[in-house]
Amino acid sequence: MPHIKPKATPIFQTSVFTFDDLNELELYFEQPGQRYMYSRYANPNSDELANEVNQLEGGVGAIVTSSGMSAILAAILAVCKAGDHVLCAEEIYGGSSSLLTQELSRIGISVTYVPSAETYSFDALVQPTTKLFLAETMSNPLLLVFDIKRLAEETKKHNIKLVIDNTFATPILTKPLSLGADIVIHSVTKYLSGHSDVTAGVVICKSEEDLQRVQKVMLTYGLNLSPFESWLAARGLKTLRLRMKQHCSNAQTIAEFLQQHPKVEQVWYPGLEAHAQHALAEDQGCGMFGGMLSFRIKDNAEAVNRFMQGLEEIPFAPSLAGVSTSISYPLGTSHRALTAEQQQKIGITIGVIRLSVGIEEPEELLTDLERGLSKI
Ligand SMILES: Cc1ncc(COP(=O)(O)O)c(C=O)c1O
Repeated sequence: MPHIKPKATPIFQTSVFTFDDLNELELYFEQPGQRYMYSRYANPNSDELANEVNQLEGGVGAIVTSSGMSAILAAILAVCKAGDHVLCAEEIYGGSSSLLTQELSRIGISVTYVPSAETYSFDALVQPTTKLFLAETMSNPLLLVFDIKRLAEETKKHNIKLVIDNTFATPILTKPLSLGADIVIHSVTKYLSGHSDVTAGVVICKSEEDLQRVQKVMLTYGLNLSPFESWLAARGLKTLRLRMKQHCSNAQTIAEFLQQHPKVEQVWYPGLEAHAQHALAEDQGCGMFGGMLSFRIKDNAEAVNRFMQGLEEIPFAPSLAGVSTSISYPLGTSHRALTAEQQQKIGITIGVIRLSVGIEEPEELLTDLERGLSKI
């Protein structure tokens, strides 16, 4: 075999690795991390992705998983057992609340949702069995920004873990572990891979103990990520910093355009001075505000339809964070399962549209948005 030195990492598309003899098998156990055995336990491509994300987030190590949902599951099961209790921010991705309310409750892990007003003082909500608090750096879809340092003070006071879903912010804006979080998770499906062609997740830990637990849960429950998906995500990750700069700058331009548009009633974007947590977002995001924004046109389904049909370039796609811009409709997708009263309470009304701003030339996006708005 010639001496091969590829610049790009090859795809180790294999479910299992071979051993020469029993001596080599013993070395596998005696020298951890030096050899591979079975891809559900570890694979060079998933290790590469985990190491790269871990470096960005500044943890002791990371474990990649088959989706963002399995990353959240692994983080919770690493810390909680039957009989334990979890606190969760009320403004959270719908899948995370379904996991807690509908599934983990069935195996004896209970949840209490913390209303936004009580986020920094959950004295009244914490129980002797409470093990962790789960929140997102920026909430979906109305971009509420959480002060991670203050959250960490509160979780330390109660001796519980702080688990942060950093999907919307990415480590380019915010590194929650450096602000006091214990565990960070991502839907790698979004910005980290960035091209809308991968479903993946990652859990990054601050302590070796948590890392070992997450790894145990991942490989025992079979939550591992395939070599090819790992390879695609690691490839996408290489351009994360560049992409985020353009996502953020485009989103700022669009937010300012929408804010002054007569057909737009409200815009939610942390980069606007009018945003309630603008100063916090600026500080916590290193002066960057992310690529996600929401806005409200009049609360009329017909008007929303005319806007969507009027767009020629921007598709309606119920996901986010790809290189090309897309719109989503929280009332009909992520927040569909809520009661009308809950929807109203958190401000998800008929006219609210979420925009995942891509990395196109900003003028192209403004032209298309104007085209859609002119149809209302
Ligand atoms: C903030 C956030 N966390 C987690 C998830 C779940 O990720 P996945 O769809 O990769 O399982 C999503 C999905 O949209 C999300 O938006």
